[in-house]
Amino acid sequence: MSNVTVIGTQWGDEGKGKIVDWLASRADIVVRFQGGHNAGHTLVVGDQVYKLSLLPSGLVRGKIGVIGNGVVVDPKALMTEIDRVTAQGLVVTPETLWIAENAPLILPVHGALDRAREAARGDHKIGTTGRGIGPAYEDKVARRAIRICDLAEPETLDWKLDELLLHHNTLLAGLGAETFTKEQLKDFLAEITPRLLPFSCQVWDRLDEARRAGRRILFEGAQAVMLDVDHGTYPFVTSSNTVAAVAASGSGVSPSSVGFVLGIAKAYTTRVGEGPFPTELHDQTGRTLGERGHEFGTVTGRPRRCGWFDAVLIRRAVRVGGVSGIALTKLDVLDGLDEISICVGYELDGQKIETFPSAPGAQARVKPVYETMPGWKETTAGARSWAELPAQAIKYVRRIEELIEAPVTLLSTSPERDDTILMRDPFED
Ligand code: IMP
Repeated sequence: MSNVTVIGTQWGDEGKGKIVDWLASRADIVVRFQGGHNAGHTLVVGDQVYKLSLLPSGLVRGKIGVIGNGVVVDPKALMTEIDRVTAQGLVVTPETLWIAENAPLILPVHGALDRAREAARGDHKIGTTGRGIGPAYEDKVARRAIRICDLAEPETLDWKLDELLLHHNTLLAGLGAETFTKEQLKDFLAEITPRLLPFSCQVWDRLDEARRAGRRILFEGAQAVMLDVDHGTYPFVTSSNTVAAVAASGSGVSPSSVGFVLGIAKAYTTRVGEGPFPTELHDQTGRTLGERGHEFGTVTGRPRRCGWFDAVLIRRAVRVGGVSGIALTKLDVLDGLDEISICVGYELDGQKIETFPSAPGAQARVKPVYETMPGWKETTAGARSWAELPAQAIKYVRRIEELIEAPVTLLSTSPERDDTILMRDPFED
């Protein structure tokens, strides 16, 4: 029996929420290991709709939720989310939610700097969620982050706040934004400390115990490989590594605990925010995909850019992400289209290329080379077995498998949790 790690293979929003929820019902513990409240999952359970940004999805299924050290934690956002799901009937206590005491905090200075920098970037903005994710990760690497464990040591907090403010106020003032006083940050921290500290613990130790006891762990990735700070479309990326390897370092477990890596891919492609997107469609087909797929960001409500499936990018995500199998989602959105295209290569300045380039200028100039196949008229929505799928839809899935060099182990055919075709159980691998 294996653990499972779920990662996105495109630019996020691949429909991870439903898959993670389905897998969470079969796991004992669900761990977030990177990102922060820039992520957004909508989970539909019975008549309740849960919108989660920071809480691990497993909590909804009564499983233990873990926020690992690789996550940047906005304590206010966390408490608001806990209050919201508690009002919906969930029980969130230090027994059911473990937060790594070495996780860095997102403070009000981080959101302010994120937004001020985006405003100053003008035409070259990244399109961040404005939630302070980037500045918080920068502080972690620069060794000036306030971590959860610091909240228990007023004397440590005192000098760390001085260092933090010296840096941030200099930048904020330079950008013409409002600066912060030490008192403001102290008041902020004093308010959240009594609620946050009881959840904090040595997550690595508890996960190690869980591993020894043979408990099933699901690692829940946020964002996706094309938003990875090293392997994505840099600089139009998020500030964390999103590949499966980070499930280990971001929660303090051995690399061998990562287990089966399930990459989530939508049957077409979407992106929010700025940055290159070779298969983006600016025509009616793009709008149709957006409307049928309800393509609006969970976190910011921004309409998502839509386009054809890019097999070249996903083949790369499979390789660098260590993907063992793919969960293909939203196949039903393609129902009824006359023709469907798949990107099988690129052209750059008149030359054929087989992998996506790394420099931003080249990434923006790349043109997709398509293979086009007939669509299907029948509906795939709600299909629960391979036999219920139209022959042409099966051909599409099989072609994708060939091109991305990975098996489709799970197929999702509607937002309903049970409308899923399972080819292979990742926990049994
Ligand atoms: P940041 O993570 O807020 O710094 O945003 C950087 C880029 O990542 C922007 O293009 C965001 O739109 C994108 N991004 C961050 N989180 C998500 C997500 O959960 N889904 C999709 N895009 C995201």
